[in-house]
Formats: sequence, C-alpha cells, structure tokens
Amino acid sequence: MRLQVLSDLHLETESFDPEPAPGADLLVLAGDIDTTWAAYERFAGWPVPVLVVPGNHEFDRRELRQALPAFRDHCARYGLTVLEQDEHLHTAPDGRRIRFLGTVRWSDFEVFGPAKQAKAIKAAGYFQKVMQATREAQVFDAAAVREEALQCRDWLRARLSAGVSESALAEPSAAAADATIVVTHFAPSLRSADPRYGTQPTTASFCNADDDLIGQADLWIHGHVHWRPDYTVPRAQGGHTRVVCQARGLPRKGESEGFDPMRLFSV
Ligand SMILES: [Fe+2]
Ligand SMILES: [Fe+2]
Repeated sequence: MRLQVLSDLHLETESFDPEPAPGADLLVLAGDIDTTWAAYERFAGWPVPVLVVPGNHEFDRRELRQALPAFRDHCARYGLTVLEQDEHLHTAPDGRRIRFLGTVRWSDFEVFGPAKQAKAIKAAGYFQKVMQATREAQVFDAAAVREEALQCRDWLRARLSAGVSESALAEPSAAAADATIVVTHFAPSLRSADPRYGTQPTTASFCNADDDLIGQADLWIHGHVHWRPDYTVPRAQGGHTRVVCQARGLPRKGESEGFDPMRLFSV
C-alpha cells in the first residue's frame, strides 16, 4: 500500500495547494494543517481515504475538550476521518489489513530523562504563549500538555501491545492486522530533533522518547518538527521500522525547500 503524507502545511498563513499524489492509496494528514480548520475543506472529495491526526495548532485559542469533538464533526463533513487515540483498520488494494493508530501524542517533556523534566517544562512556555488554548477553564500550559501526553502515551502503548480492537474490526472474528502504522503529531524520538536546534531544553516540546515503542510498528509517521527526518529503527523480530515526517514548514524560513508533496511511502 502506498501513502501520501502531508503535515505542517500551516495554511492559516501559508499558500499551498495540496493535490492528490498519483498512485497513492490513502492520504495521511499529520497535523498543523490549518489553525482555523478552514483548509480541511480542500480535502473534500479527495480520490482516496484521508486520515487526520490533529496537530497542536488545530487547538489554538480553543477549549481542548470541546475542540476535539468539534474538529471531528468539521472533518466528517468533508469525509475525512480524525484519529485521536483511535484505531482505524484499512484494507489495502492487495487485501492486507493495515491498522492505523493515531494520536496527537503531546510532549511529556521526559525526552532528556526525569532529572531534566522540570527544565524542559520551564522552557515550554511556547504552548501557553502561542497556542493560547484552555482546558477545563484553565490555561493549557506545559503541565497540562504533559497530562495529555501521558494519556496519549498510555493509550498508544496499550494498543501497540494488544491486537486489533474488536471495534476496529469489520469482522470481529478476524485475527490481528497485517501491518501497523502509527501516526502522531509529535515526534517519537530525539532522532527526529531538528538539527537547527539540537538538543536544547525546548527540543522536549517537539520530541518524546517513544523509542521503545517504535519497533512495534511497521511505519511511524509524525509531524511537528519543521524538517523531514526519514530513518529506520531495528525491530526485535527482525527487519526495521521506518520513521518519517513530511512537514512542509514555513517557506520564509527555507523549511519547504526540497519538500515533495507527491512523495509516496510504501507499507
Ligand atoms: Fe508545525
Ligand atoms: Fe506542531
């Protein structure tokens, strides 16, 4: 199965016309597509199924708990499927069943270990200042981001170690999926850290240490970092997991240089 992957288009400020990639069987949108949500309409009538994992910026200036169901409804209007702590089963053209596990997977700020967690949270004023979101009548600050992140992590860990859930199966009697693709907005490893910024405390606002989970997926797609890491991680059972990001980023910072929106990823 071949996937087209796009993230961090930031269409709230950037000009870019997404077009279907020839040969793609499915489109994955890995977040930060449009803070205003308006651009999601552009994917209406897309020739292949579209799966959406929201980015942090899809929650900008919104109430987190209310925004998620509203975002699901908004995307459903255009035939797009939102995955936030959701499992989705897709049958590939060759009949293989591909399991998608999608979650924003916010930062837990533990990427540099527990000792440096406080420093990483302190450096994460970004979420509060830029996003200006709220959660249950409180400011959605770094501590709240961490709480959300831990929930996402627990969900993902449990789903990866379990088989396909009954609710995701069209036929409950069927066994496990043939392949698992994880889609997160935040990055699962320091290996995805933007080389422009290295490993400073703010890097914990972009990358988690989910390295121990990566090998349980066949492919891990993420966004959030405005560059395009593409690397492999060895799996315990042999073979490798590929980790990719297809962020377009901001042209004014040179981030979209070399970006190929038509690129396909095979599973
Ligand atoms: Fe972004
Ligand atoms: Fe982001």
